[in-house]
Amino acid sequence: ETGQYEHFMLKEIDEQPTVIRNIIGKYQDDQGQLNIGQELEGLTVPKRIYIVACGTSYHAGLVGKKLLENIARIPTEVHIASEYLYAKDPLIEKDSLFIFFSQSGETADSRGVLNQIKQQGYRTLTITNVQGSTLYREADYKLLTHAGPEIAVASTKAYTAQIAVVALFSIYLSEQQGLEGTIDMFQELRTISIAMESLKDMKEQAKQIVDDYLTGHQTTFFIGRQSDFDVCLEGALKLKEISYIQAEGYAGGELKHGPIALIEDGTPVFVVITDDNVAKNTRSNAQEVKARGANTCVISAKGSEEEGDAWVLPKVNPLLTPLVSVIPLQLISYYAALQRGCDVDKPRNLAKSVTVE
Ligand code: M6R
Repeated sequence: ETGQYEHFMLKEIDEQPTVIRNIIGKYQDDQGQLNIGQELEGLTVPKRIYIVACGTSYHAGLVGKKLLENIARIPTEVHIASEYLYAKDPLIEKDSLFIFFSQSGETADSRGVLNQIKQQGYRTLTITNVQGSTLYREADYKLLTHAGPEIAVASTKAYTAQIAVVALFSIYLSEQQGLEGTIDMFQELRTISIAMESLKDMKEQAKQIVDDYLTGHQTTFFIGRQSDFDVCLEGALKLKEISYIQAEGYAGGELKHGPIALIEDGTPVFVVITDDNVAKNTRSNAQEVKARGANTCVISAKGSEEEGDAWVLPKVNPLLTPLVSVIPLQLISYYAALQRGCDVDKPRNLAKSVTVE
C-alpha cells in the first residue's frame, strides 16, 4: 500500500533513511562492531573482484567499485551482465570473487553470468533485496539489502541499500586484511541517514527545478566527475525511464569531445558537484555548456557550493556522496514524470524484473 503517498516511487524515495538505519541495525553487533562474518563464513580475501549487474544495480556497482578499491584495496571491475554474458574468453584472475548486485535477484542476464561463472569454478556473492530469489539461492555467499519490498519499476531505495551494503563489505575485507585507518562506516552511514532525512522536506524545491529547467524540453544532460559521474548515469536513467525525456549521463570532461554539439539555447544540464577534488573542473565544464546556451542546474554539497547553485546538499564522506546526491535526482525524475502525466510507478514498455535475456 502507498499509504499517504500517491505513488510507490515517492514512498520508496522517502524510505531511504530508514533503510540505511535498518542496514546498520542488521550488520552491527551490540559492541558496535561489524557483524557480517556469519554470512561470509569461509570467504577468503580475493585478489580481484568482478561486479556484474544491470540498470540501476549496475550503477550502484560503479560506486561499489570505488568503495572496494579505496577501502579494501582490491582491484574491481564492473560489468553489464548482458555484455559479460557474451564476452569471448574473458581473462579472469584465478583467485577472484564475482559479486552480483540485484534488487529482485531474478534478472536473467545476471543469472546467465552466475551460471557460467559457477561452472568455471569461481566464487560468487549476491547482494540482493529478495531472500530466496534465484541469485540469492545460487550464489555461494549472500548479503541482504534489507530495503523492504520495492514496488515501483524505477528503482530507488535498492540503489542506496546496495551501496550501503557494499560499503560494509569493503570494511569487512579491509578488516580481514588488517588494513590500517579504515573509516567508521556505521558512523558515516548514520550521518547519511540524517542527511537523507533532511531531504524529505525538499520536495517543493525539486518540483520548482522541474518547472524551471525541464518544462518544454525533451533533451537533457547530467554531468559530473568521479562518483558524481556515477550518480549522473543513475539520474539520467531515472529521468528517461519514467518521464520519457531523453537524458544522457556524461563525464564532465568528455563533453567537449562530442556531445557539446547538442547544446542549444535552453538545453537543461544538471551538474553534480560534491567531490572537492574535481569541483573546479566540473565547474568549468558547467561554464563551457552555459556559454553555449545551456540552462545549468548545479547540485552541490556544503563546502563546495557557490552562489547560484540550485541545490546545496549536506556534506558527507566523499566516498559515499552518491547515497545523498542521488535523492534530488530521484525527486526531479518523479516530479518530471508527474508534470508530464506519465504513469510513474509503471512506465511504458518496462517490467519490474527482467526475467528474459
Ligand atoms: O532486480 P535488478 O536489480 O537485477 O534489476 C536490474 C534492472 O532491471 C533495474 O535496475 C532497472 O534498470 C530499473 N528499472 C531501474 O530503475
